[in-house]
Amino acid sequence: MRKLLVTGGAGFIGSNFVHHVVANTDDHVTVLDKLTYAGNRESLASLPTDRVELVVGDIADAELVDRLFADVDAVVHYAAESHNDNSLHDPRPFLDTNIIGTYTLLEAARKHDRRFHHISTDEVYGDLELDDPARFTETTPYNPSSPYSSTKAGSDLLVRAWVRSFGVRATISNCSNNYGPYQHVEKFIPRQITNVIRGIRPKLYGKGENVRDWIHADDHSSAVLTILEKGATGETYLIGADGEKDNKTVVELILQMMGQPADAYEHVTDRAGHDLRYAIDSTRLRTELGWTPRYQDFEAGLAATIEWYRDNEDWWAPAKDGVEAFYASKGQ
Ligand code: NAD
Ligand code: DAU
Repeated sequence: MRKLLVTGGAGFIGSNFVHHVVANTDDHVTVLDKLTYAGNRESLASLPTDRVELVVGDIADAELVDRLFADVDAVVHYAAESHNDNSLHDPRPFLDTNIIGTYTLLEAARKHDRRFHHISTDEVYGDLELDDPARFTETTPYNPSSPYSSTKAGSDLLVRAWVRSFGVRATISNCSNNYGPYQHVEKFIPRQITNVIRGIRPKLYGKGENVRDWIHADDHSSAVLTILEKGATGETYLIGADGEKDNKTVVELILQMMGQPADAYEHVTDRAGHDLRYAIDSTRLRTELGWTPRYQDFEAGLAATIEWYRDNEDWWAPAKDGVEAFYASKGQ
């Protein structure tokens, strides 16, 4: 039995990863999570307590981090401030968690010589034109746009420096947009699903032409486990499932699947500096490490996600009114 430390394991993708680990391995998981507005202990509540322990704390707390690293075999680092819109409103927590927090973890990985996997995003590469045949690869130059993505880019560079300077046994993955259960209602897909449930018209930023490359969170988890087990130290792997869709198409699909007219949405104020298109080429992960995504049918995955939000209103309802009040104050 391996002992894993998972930072941010009470957030969206982190909690999906913990569920995936419990279902597919014998590992024990210690979750380190600050339970910010984005963390929710209920996302882990159904898991066996002899397999999963939640420690509430900050990844920038060096003393706590040192103690936890001493007792595990490997660390998977998801904790972050993750929402672009929030980073445009108040960037400071993004620097504290994404930069100082990651630095704190790297120092502990160095001291205890622990295997470390850093979770990052395709947004570090900036954006692509809509008609560009190119997709991001592991050698695309960094060119982040927002306070969020620039702090994620900074954290990736810290990991690379700790590998090269101190020999830390780290890998990095940069994944595209995730969807699935346990995603906070501030994000695009759950915001629109819960809007429809509440009788609010979905909100599309600008013209809705922006393209995101969707992957189910469970496929992200299987990719991360693969990299943890087979990835080469110091290397970066891009994770994606060929799921490019423009935002207008996604909103129309949600409306149709929920029994509404496909045009029952509103255009609202666009995001400042809004990245146009992300697209991942995950050839390296597939050919070198043998990973393949299971959820190739976006519409089936979206239908299951809609069902999850319908069945789990207790999970998302406490956050919904505050999120909508915040967006309304920005004209979104
Ligand atoms: P999330 O906002 O849903 O969850 C983040 C979690 O981190 C929360 O549980 C929060 O409480 C915790 N956290 C925040 N600050 C902390 C701190 N200082 N100490 C300890 N815990 C802290 O985010 P998410 O969407 O699940 O993203 C997780 C990771 O995956 C992030 O690193 C993000 O950059 C990356 N990522 C996300 C996506 C996506 O589509 N959501 C895609 C690619 C990569
Ligand atoms: O690409 C990976 C990234 O995906 C992760 O690094 C981020 O943590 C994650 O939040 C996500 O970033 P995006 O900014 O792409 O996701 P978001 O859900 O905020 O928005 C997706 C798209 O939908 C984007 O083009 C903005 C648009 N949008 C968003 C909201 C909330 C709308 O049109 N309306 C909305 O109400």
